[in-house]
Amino acid sequence: MRKKIVAGNWKMNKTYSESVPLLYEIKDLLFKSKKGEAVLKVIIPPSLYIHDFYETTKGLKNVFVGAQNCSTEESGAYTGEISAGMIKSVGGNYIIIGHSERRSYFNETHEELKKKTDITLKHGLQPIFCVGETKEKREANEHFKVVEAQINDSIFHLIPDEFKKVVIAYEPVWAIGTGLTATSAQAQEMHRFIRSLIENKYGRVLAQEMSILYGGSCNEKNAAELFACPDVDGGLIGGASLKAKEFVEIIHSFPQ
Ligand code: PGA
Repeated sequence: MRKKIVAGNWKMNKTYSESVPLLYEIKDLLFKSKKGEAVLKVIIPPSLYIHDFYETTKGLKNVFVGAQNCSTEESGAYTGEISAGMIKSVGGNYIIIGHSERRSYFNETHEELKKKTDITLKHGLQPIFCVGETKEKREANEHFKVVEAQINDSIFHLIPDEFKKVVIAYEPVWAIGTGLTATSAQAQEMHRFIRSLIENKYGRVLAQEMSILYGGSCNEKNAAELFACPDVDGGLIGGASLKAKEFVEIIHSFPQ
């Protein structure tokens, strides 16, 4: 069975002293209800806090911690970088790769994302690999082409045993942080398309096992409709992951 996943991408938000009460609030709310127990919950704070978050959530069922990025390199003279091995060593389990903010503000290329994916897997961590088109590309009806190229160029070189550890997140750039959510029909259409690409490359069994998340202004109000789509297996949540109640409501939004 495909895993249901809700990941909270905190981006560059919250000082340490602001982050601790928020984490405890999320933890308390998760404790109070059995509803989201089977959902994998991934909290992705700034990397500085990973170790502390790992220690705080250790032992909680299906709760994991992740990083928002990693270096393409193993170690060495790369001032300011953080390696996948370091993330693992402090308790991280997932790494977001290819978020649109990194692609656009930090000019990350397909080739770099490929390296980051490889190094993440090499350390036994799971990449959350982001894809998605800009507003211009959607308006030009090129959204499928864009997403296909992103997948082809950075993750389709993987062997099946590696590929099945990847979580794909479809995040239309025009929906990220804008309050504009893709309709459930748009999300389902793209998720199905992504699954069909995987099926053509790796076969039906593997395609059916892959979790494909939706991201982009997903919140406690629209999550239920999005998560009810047959090919949407959860969400990568930005803004709404910074509010404990909203985030946990999203976790509770899967069809029962
Ligand atoms: P958002 O961000 O939920 O604030 O739109 C999603 C993301 O960037 O992962």
